[in-house]
Amino acid sequence: MCGIVGFIGREQVCPILLDGLARLEYRGYDSAGVAVYSEEDGTLQVRKAKGRLQVLADMLEGGALLHGTVGIGHTRWATHGAPSDVNSHPQVSRSGRIAVVHNGIIENYAELKSFLIDMGVPFVSETDTEVIAQLVDYFYEGDILEAVTRCLHRIEGAYALGIICADAPDELIAVRKDSPLILGYGEGCNFLASDVTAIIRHTRKVSYMEDGELAILTRDGIRCYNHLMQPVEKEIFTVDWEIDAAEKGGYEHFMFKEIMEQPDALRRTISPRIRDNEVWLEDFALDEDYIRGIDRIFIVACGSSYHVGMVGKYNLERLLRVPVEVSLASEFRYMDPILTPHTLVIVISQSGETLDTMAALREARRLGAKILSIVNVVGSSIARESDVVLYTWAGPEIAVATTKAYSTQMAVLNLLGLYFARVRGTVEEARYHAILEEMQKLPARLEEVLASRDSVQYLASRYFNHDSIFFIGRNLDYALGMEGSLKLKEISYIHSEAYASGELKHGTISLIEEGTLVIALGTYGKLFDKAMSNVVEVKSRGADVLALTSKSHEAAMAKTADAVLTIPDTCDMLLPSLGIAYLQLFAYYVALMRGCDIDKPRNLAKSVTVE
Ligand code: AGP
Repeated sequence: MCGIVGFIGREQVCPILLDGLARLEYRGYDSAGVAVYSEEDGTLQVRKAKGRLQVLADMLEGGALLHGTVGIGHTRWATHGAPSDVNSHPQVSRSGRIAVVHNGIIENYAELKSFLIDMGVPFVSETDTEVIAQLVDYFYEGDILEAVTRCLHRIEGAYALGIICADAPDELIAVRKDSPLILGYGEGCNFLASDVTAIIRHTRKVSYMEDGELAILTRDGIRCYNHLMQPVEKEIFTVDWEIDAAEKGGYEHFMFKEIMEQPDALRRTISPRIRDNEVWLEDFALDEDYIRGIDRIFIVACGSSYHVGMVGKYNLERLLRVPVEVSLASEFRYMDPILTPHTLVIVISQSGETLDTMAALREARRLGAKILSIVNVVGSSIARESDVVLYTWAGPEIAVATTKAYSTQMAVLNLLGLYFARVRGTVEEARYHAILEEMQKLPARLEEVLASRDSVQYLASRYFNHDSIFFIGRNLDYALGMEGSLKLKEISYIHSEAYASGELKHGTISLIEEGTLVIALGTYGKLFDKAMSNVVEVKSRGADVLALTSKSHEAAMAKTADAVLTIPDTCDMLLPSLGIAYLQLFAYYVALMRGCDIDKPRNLAKSVTVE
């Protein structure tokens, strides 16, 4: 979704803004713009362009054409009004003295807009953001802070804002409500940004704005206030990852780099959490009595994180014998869920900022449940609002299509299941240790799978021009198929569906005809024979079958399927952790063959901060 970057300092601001925006490109956008205060003539200089950031960068000769040391920049993902130069941010008030960048949605913008139009204020864009710029201007009587706070009392919705005023050129104002915004602390300069990647080249010292907070950035410091305008002392964190973690490092695409990083990411996630052959969870604030008393678990998430929950349901129910319900966050928040103090809600999110997931978390809290979150971005909103957080430690994930976050989320959920099972006494000692041993071997096994990527590339070249692909599987393989299908859809734009194999004959098998590609997942040993029958069923209706199975079943599968990809044997609950690598690679190579923009698929955003 939209990306914000702001800077106040002594250096030229425009190259800093363009560099910051380039690092936010991964979030997804369709236009970009900057506003810089010009010391030469005391005006705000605004430049905006539809399309890639490069269009704006070329227009500004890399930033050399705008001079100034205070400014704001934005990459816009259109919500109100089509992508266009005029709808791009910054939005400027009619006096030209106030410029605003915004991430989020102003829900009462129509009402405010008609009020302002009645007051004679002309509008030039279709955006909800222009209402903010015009309203601040309407209230402005020489004190920009006063005008901003009066505006904040009237707008409703979600917003992260960066505001500059030509009459207060030594200040940059930042505001946050329900949309992420961080503050960065430099030497003689300060920053605001949607996320750390935009500013890590300049500073590692950051703080996270809370809902309702407003900050005033100057060259010498940052003052922060709560919604009552009382001063707030911010805790400053030091970012502990290196800038190369957010760069391509010789790879053609972030997605491929992140696929290949998975073994290391899993090592970071798993190794520190196994001590003396026992699962050890850091800062774990759920006591054993509470864990023993859990009578139901909800897993709530969106997209791939939801698919992790689907795998988790099978694994956790087997380990704990407690009902686990997996719910899409966008549904959960409106479904009036039945929660008790003994219900644990597990929230899963890479970004920790997904608005639907955040809203579901708040609903669960309102209804009295405890919240445990599995999050990648340290200090994100979901992490901060949870009772307990388990970080995935996957490092920054830049590609829109998640890979290493998915794998590490699954590993954390499995560790959590084992930890709970141990406390509740629902797993035999020998099985527990056998699974732990397998978990420690997982990174090396995944390396083995990734090493055979050429075979996937070959299969992608054979199948890349299919228009519709089915993923079929049972149980854990069904959950795995859901993620495989999503990966393929989002980056290759091929229609695909994940089906529970047993359900095919209840309707969907009518779509199978000569040459339809079916990706049959048959890694789960207990249901392998059933998986085989479904392969035979689709084969006999003309399907081309690309199968995924484990070493022990390879020979049997090869008798019927047209092509087989094989993962090493491991315990059942870890099979999806290996199988997923083939499906990620398949989606990647198919998208490559089709010439798609892999890291920035159309219409998608990395962090979905609108409903
Ligand atoms: C996955 O490839 C997608 N980009 C998307 O489904 C994503 O998993 C979803 O938007 C949830 O994001 P989160 O994990 O950051 O909450």
